[in-house]
Amino acid sequence: MLPWRATDGGRPDPYHVWLSEIMLQQTVVATVIPYFGRFIERYPTVADLAAAPDDDVLGLWAGLGYYARARNLIACARAVVAAGGFPATIDGLRALPGIGAYTAAAIGAIAFDLPVVPIDGNVERVAARIGAVTTALPAGKAEIARVAAWLGEHAAARAAPGDFAQALFDLGASLCAPRSPSCLVCPWRGDCAGHAAGIAATLPRKAAR
Ligand code: ADE
Repeated sequence: MLPWRATDGGRPDPYHVWLSEIMLQQTVVATVIPYFGRFIERYPTVADLAAAPDDDVLGLWAGLGYYARARNLIACARAVVAAGGFPATIDGLRALPGIGAYTAAAIGAIAFDLPVVPIDGNVERVAARIGAVTTALPAGKAEIARVAAWLGEHAAARAAPGDFAQALFDLGASLCAPRSPSCLVCPWRGDCAGHAAGIAATLPRKAAR
């Protein structure tokens, strides 16, 4: 169980979701987990983080790299506290320091159940396969985004956008692996056009460079 996910069936804490998504921007899950634990132990709320001296936060961040992320983290925490909480809209999230289109979609779906499908590398692969998108990346991105939006219309996505987004992350990180996907046991097997065409493992295609 990833430590930023809600364990009680309730909504996850937007502060935890935001912090984890910023850490996950350029760092793998296994590395992020201990850093995330140290951050929420030292700063249990976004107000605690906003009130901390910059050097304390930067010191705790040391090892995660990309210091612009840590500087934006501090600026974002202070903006959120000044505004009285995290905005529950994509536009509001995007306006915050360090939050681009992908991160706004991830936080929006996971923390606020906004009906969006965040597309990271894993979700890109899952969508390319389900939709049998054979157009190579980067040109194929638009078509993959349309497949992801179509997945977002699925009843499970409509009922629980945050759970659906995280299920797509997990599918991409497990069964829908880059090289040898485990199609035989995949819950999407019957609906996967890539599998039906026998080309799932070859997707997404990448333009020769
Ligand atoms: N990568 C980015 N966000 C993630 C999340 N919430 N769970 C798993 N992997 C992720």
